Amino acid sequence: MTGPHHTAHPTLTILPTPADASARAAALLARWIGQDRSESRAVHVALAGGSTPADTYRTLATLLDDWSGVHLWFGDERLVPADDPQSNAKMVRDALTGPANLPETQLHLVPTGRDADAAAAAYGAELAGALPNLAPGVPVFDIVMLGLGEDGHVASLFPDAPGLTSTAVCVSVTDAPKPPPSRVSLTLRTINAARRRLILATGETKRAALATALAGTDPHVPASLIRPERTTIVTDRAAAALIGSPDHQSAP
Ligand code: 6PG
Repeated sequence: MTGPHHTAHPTLTILPTPADASARAAALLARWIGQDRSESRAVHVALAGGSTPADTYRTLATLLDDWSGVHLWFGDERLVPADDPQSNAKMVRDALTGPANLPETQLHLVPTGRDADAAAAAYGAELAGALPNLAPGVPVFDIVMLGLGEDGHVASLFPDAPGLTSTAVCVSVTDAPKPPPSRVSLTLRTINAARRRLILATGETKRAALATALAGTDPHVPASLIRPERTTIVTDRAAAALIGSPDHQSAP
């Protein structure tokens, strides 16, 4: 995640506990969404899946009272039924869009009822059509939020995955080492084209992944390939325990 001359670093904020980190992530999302909404345009946010972000989403639902023009997408989705406990859409509906009363027209689901390739192609086409494009076929999110896997994956981009080099908007994944195996994921190119990135990682199980992600770019550690500029990592002391460099500040 360092820059080409090891000059650029992500902003790293280390909070005492997972709860503090979740609250800080919610506050940052609310601030950034509010800033982007003030430009009187649609705001497009790709949400992280997994279990870590749920508390952040619950808090975010209480921090923003006007969601007009805010469109929520998914950084990745598992190809399971919408009511399946493994569904990222279910987690987001339960924690965020339900409590926030976000209209369904502003929550853009991955079409999970089809095979992975068809789902990825359809979602990529919807994204490219709805978002401003940096260049043809490069949709620009305002914010992409990511979690961090213990193996250093982000979204459903696992070590050495084709989605790390693909020039598509989204890719299908059918062999995910983290169950369930079938998923759709934004590509690294789409993630790095975003105006901002927020990575939320907490707990001692993430400490090795976080340390290697910050140690230099390595395709075996997808998180290390995230563009450092305009990337904020929110973590807690347990996950940051192996990060020694004084470059990284701890939050008060
Ligand atoms: C997914 C997620 C994935 C997740 C990490 C961390 O759909 O699986 O997008 O990238 O963020 O695996 O998961 P936890 O937050 O559950 O530790």
